[in-house]
Amino acid sequence: MRNEKNSTESTIYDTDSYLQKLVVTNPLQEPVMRRVVLALNLPRGSQGLDVGCGIGLQALLLAEAVGGHVTGVDMSPKFLAYARSIAEKAGSSEQISFQEGGMNNLPLDDDTFDWVWSANCAGYVFGEPLPLLKELARVVKPG
Ligand SMILES: C[S@@+](CC[C@H](N)C(=O)[O-])C[C@H]1O[C@@H](n2cnc3c(N)ncnc32)[C@H](O)[C@@H]1O
Repeated sequence: MRNEKNSTESTIYDTDSYLQKLVVTNPLQEPVMRRVVLALNLPRGSQGLDVGCGIGLQALLLAEAVGGHVTGVDMSPKFLAYARSIAEKAGSSEQISFQEGGMNNLPLDDDTFDWVWSANCAGYVFGEPLPLLKELARVVKPG
């Protein structure tokens, strides 16, 4: 996860088998994630960012919960392609967009989102967490 450029697809793990793991474990994870998302009580119609969105399973839950727009960012083009197909099948393509990028240098403008979500990604940062937190805060609107 340190090397932003393609480390997902080359050195850390095999993308195809990891993708299958995300799909297979989702029925166990989804009820918990759904409850967490609801507990956050995110503002209706808000715009959010899912960092390290993987195949977009939580982006879907978040978009459903807020009825606004969610942008999913991930460094893996393969995961993002799968995420787009899931969102399309769910009829949520209008509500969710996906973008390739690294969380330490987000390809996004300052002050864009109402909130940022990251599950099983930003929390695993190696070393000093402050630069990453600052980068996540950069894209969230003041207040
Ligand atoms: C364990 S998966 C979690 C996926 C999803 N959030 C979930 O919980 O189902 C971690 C994800 O973070 C992505 N990732 C890892 N390092 C990243 C980085 N530096 N920038 C952006 N995405 C990253 C991986 O490609 C992978 O999709």
